[in-house]
Amino acid sequence: MRRLFPILILVFLIGCRQNSVAPTGTVTENAMVVSARIEASALGSAIMEEGGNAFDAMAATEMALAVAFPFAGNLGGGGFMVYRTAQGEIGGLDYREKAPAAAHKEMYLDSLGNVIPNMSTVGATAVGVPGTVAGVFAAHKKFGKLPIADIFEKVAQLADKGIIVTEKQAKRLERYRPTIIEVNGDSTLFATPFKVGDTIKYPALAKTLRIIAKNGKDGFYKGEVAQKLASHIQAGGGFVSEEDLANYEAAWRDPVTFNYKDLRIISMSPPSSGGFTMNQILKMMEPHDLASFGHNSEKHIQLFTEAARRAYADRNYWLGDPDFVEIPMEELLSDQYLKERMMGFTFDKATKSEAIQRGEVNIVESDQTTHYSIVDHEGNAVSVTTTINGAYGSKLYNDELGFFLNNEMDDFSAKPGVPNMFGLIGAEANSIAPGKRMLSSMTPTIVEKDGALYMVVGTPGGSTIITAVAQTILNVYEFDMSMQEAVNAPRFHHQWLPDMVIFEPQGFSDSLKLNLEAKGYKINQDRTPIMGKVDAIRILPDGRLEGGADKRGDDTAVGF
Ligand code: DON
Repeated sequence: MRRLFPILILVFLIGCRQNSVAPTGTVTENAMVVSARIEASALGSAIMEEGGNAFDAMAATEMALAVAFPFAGNLGGGGFMVYRTAQGEIGGLDYREKAPAAAHKEMYLDSLGNVIPNMSTVGATAVGVPGTVAGVFAAHKKFGKLPIADIFEKVAQLADKGIIVTEKQAKRLERYRPTIIEVNGDSTLFATPFKVGDTIKYPALAKTLRIIAKNGKDGFYKGEVAQKLASHIQAGGGFVSEEDLANYEAAWRDPVTFNYKDLRIISMSPPSSGGFTMNQILKMMEPHDLASFGHNSEKHIQLFTEAARRAYADRNYWLGDPDFVEIPMEELLSDQYLKERMMGFTFDKATKSEAIQRGEVNIVESDQTTHYSIVDHEGNAVSVTTTINGAYGSKLYNDELGFFLNNEMDDFSAKPGVPNMFGLIGAEANSIAPGKRMLSSMTPTIVEKDGALYMVVGTPGGSTIITAVAQTILNVYEFDMSMQEAVNAPRFHHQWLPDMVIFEPQGFSDSLKLNLEAKGYKINQDRTPIMGKVDAIRILPDGRLEGGADKRGDDTAVGF
């Protein structure tokens, strides 16, 4: 044994990757928030500087994003939080929207059984029961330190003061203005043609935030706000009732945890598919020496694609709301099962996804969800992805209350085999039922290395969320990138169906794509969308924090 011990240590060290490259992103000593907008990151950071912890900062950042990033930040949507306390305790919070009580399996089908276009995506009929405010209160109740009313008041002040329109925001607003007017009429706030440098103020939202500050969670889910919300949605033909709102509760869930080499990855469990699918992908890749292939090399792309192809096939068939369906998680995540799944894999040629109707199926370019990562001075870490699903959700804006409503109902499988707006094809497990949560791809994640906090990471991007998060983790761990480099690096994606690899516009050569095509990979040459907008934090060996704020958006790291 004595002689064996040094050999075992050596084997262990070779299996582990020890390098820690110099940071290239924002570095702070104590605490940090990385989010889609500087105003939201700054408010979250300020809350921590005043003595609040990461959970206080979560409440501030989540609400501030509804002001600064109404494209995805919300009171009218939902999300997931994965946390790890300074003591190493972990958990997950599910504040995903729910189907209203009046919902039913065939609600988006016409008399011939065909999916009615737009009904689950645009306007009041698309709205699920919002969970965000319940999530913020649940997180704060369990872990927060500062009075929540004070936090909400600070966000209300930001809403009163308004935020300045960035170039990217002006473009987005212009692009979606016609639909927003179509849904809400032309006297709605966002009918205004806001330009770069204009200030958007939100007096109505400030009022709503102050009602919630005063009355707590019930300030949103009961009384004046709930009444106005339900009657507005119903006036537009939607289904959410006051009772649905009064009944909404966030749910604590055990996260999915697994080891990848010497990392421990902690990510969201169903009703999000994020943790499960990333677990399958990374475990299928684990036996290979990925670093030796080279970043975004042919072999790297093949291995990742083949693992993702298999994982998304399982995701789409098996996963749904665990309160409604049995998911054989243990079997589907077992080493033996995953080993068998990869049995047919070879670097010589592509595996074919089963031939189900493909063609019109598109993977929508999308970053309408938003993610933020927080670490506080005590070492608590919070990873949150939150959404109203599409860009400005259903586009239904409540001018009296000051926020957009989600179109999350589209994340259900309206009809087995018919793709949703992300090209995802669902099955029975994700069919609509009253009170059920729709399956998500959101993947808020925390990574430990050697038992210590190592990374906080997540992204928007619909079905591409899972692959973007997995690639970011691999970029740091396998390819020795700094957090900022890992976030900036070009990404690619495969989701089983449609059977095609998509690449971001930059960073992948024609010859690489030709080589992959020669092996039988279908490559979508016409569409090279931006995939995800990752906001992450890496803990440096000396304990300082490096932000990775995605340059694809206005995302910013702020801390102290
Ligand atoms: O929960 C989900 O998976 C989707 N509603 C996420 C939507 C999203 O990321 C939109 N933007 N890309």
